Parts: sequence; structure tokens; C-alpha cells
Amino acid sequence: PSLNQALVSKVSMFVGDITTLEVDVITNAANSSLLGGGGVDGAIHRAAGPALKLECQSLHGCETGNAKITGGYKLPAKYVIHTVGPQGEKPNLLSNCYRNSLGIMKEFGFKTIAFPCISTGIYGYPLIPAAHIAAFEVRNHLEKFLDVVERVIFCLFSEEDEKVYQGILQTYFPL
Ligand code: APR
Repeated sequence: PSLNQALVSKVSMFVGDITTLEVDVITNAANSSLLGGGGVDGAIHRAAGPALKLECQSLHGCETGNAKITGGYKLPAKYVIHTVGPQGEKPNLLSNCYRNSLGIMKEFGFKTIAFPCISTGIYGYPLIPAAHIAAFEVRNHLEKFLDVVERVIFCLFSEEDEKVYQGILQTYFPL
């Protein structure tokens, strides 16, 4: 198979709740306190149970663009990578979220990861430019580590978001 075919075979979209995904690691769009919040962060903490917050407290926060890992507790995912997206359209910081999360994936030898649309909810990053960054960084990572990654899932929370991703993923992952 061509490089493009190999790359496209490793990415997929899922529309729904990221807390239902049975993968090595899900990514959380957290805030710098890492102590929970609304949106996907709230959903992950609810589904993981209170032990997740206890572990998060021991991490002493996280800077914007960085990422830290915890266990998944009651989630079907084994681990959670908490990354802090920028508030508003700050491309370098959003790129860092994806890069640092994928770096942890590599470091821990995870094969499967799911990402929500980091920063595009409460933090107000416009979806289209955010999706370009997500697709670009994932492609870049897969080009380097194709053999060790089994699947990267873009978890979309609405069919509108899915439509946007469908178009953008086709340009970064052509057949
Ligand atoms: N599964 C998957 N995606 C979800 C879920 C869920 N259960 N719940 C919300 N989303 C989607 C939103 O629809 C949006 O597309 O996740 C994306 C990110 O939105 P937010 O959760 O609002 O995250 P963000 O924009 O990065 O804002 C972070 O929100 O509550 C907080 O503590 C968090 O302060 C931080 C801020």
C-alpha cells in the first residue's frame, strides 16, 4: 500500500461521547488547574469517578499547550492525557496540545488514542482552523511512527463537527 493508504487506514471519526471509548488513552480538554470543569472535562471526571480528581490534584496543574497523564479509573480507556488548550485562536499553543499528547502516546507505547476537539467548546477556538491543526499534527506524527500507532480517533460531539472534519481529514489523509 502507498504511504497515503497506510496513513488513512489509521485514522477514524467517532461521533459521540469520548468517555465510552475503549482505547489505550483518551485526551481531555482540561484547564490549567487540572481539577475538572464543564464540557468534555466534566464528562471525563464524572465517568472516571472521584479517584481521577485525587490523582489530578497530585499533578499541580498544567500549562497551556502542555499535557499530563493519569489513569483512567472507571473509564473503559486505560489512561487519560489531560492537555490544556488555548483560550481563543492561538495556533502554536493548540499545535503543542496535539504534539505533546502524541508524544506521551509514543513514550508510553500506546497503540490507540482518541481526541476531542480541543479548545473548540468553552475556549472558543473556531472549529475549522482547529481541525486543520489537529489533522496536520496527527498526520505528522503518523508519518514518523506509523508502525507503532494502530488508531487515532477524532471524537466529534455533533454531526456538524463531523461534517467539518470529514472535509478536512480528506485533505490531510487522501486515498
Ligand atoms: N465527548 C466528546 N466530546 C465532548 C464531550 C464528550 N462527552 N463533551 C463535550 N465535548 C466536545 C465539545 O462539544 C467541543 O467540541 O468537546 C469539545 C471541546 O469543548 P470543551 O469541553 O468546552 O473544551 P474547551 O473548549 O477546550 O474548553 C476547556 O472547558 O470545562 C472546561 O475545564 C475545562 O476550563 C476548561 C474548558
